[in-house]
Amino acid sequence: MRLPVMPVVVLCVAGLFASTAMADGETIYNSGCVACHGAGIAGAPRVGDKEAWAHRIAQGKKIMYEHALKGFQGTAGVMPAKGGFTHLSDEEVKAATDFMIEASK
Ligand code: HEC
Repeated sequence: MRLPVMPVVVLCVAGLFASTAMADGETIYNSGCVACHGAGIAGAPRVGDKEAWAHRIAQGKKIMYEHALKGFQGTAGVMPAKGGFTHLSDEEVKAATDFMIEASK
């Protein structure tokens, strides 16, 4: 009786993690990054603006993560390290970056 129940439980837990990870990036973005990236303030590429993101996405996620985590001075403006939200973990900043990329393709 116990065996058939196991795969269902495993699937549910996996699904829960998947949906939490998705929501997290968006939530983190909306709780901070949106301040600059929502309207394109101070040279920040506006999320959803495919043209503004195409050449950034083309350089690869590794560099984008690096820039989001450590900050960088580009030709458009200054991206502060973690957007200035230093309480965020590296994983949270990466999740927000993933969300921004997905929303700007
Ligand atoms: C104070 C304004 C500001 C905030 C807040 C901010 N950013 Fe940025 N961000 C910028 C600017 C400006 C650029 C573009 C710099 C350039 O290319 O000259 C940028 C660029 C980026 C890029 C593109 C990197 C690349 O390699 O082209 C990513 C990814 C990014 N930000 C992620 C984030 C995340 C994630 C957050 C929230 C945790 C965040 N930003 C919050 C200003 C901001």
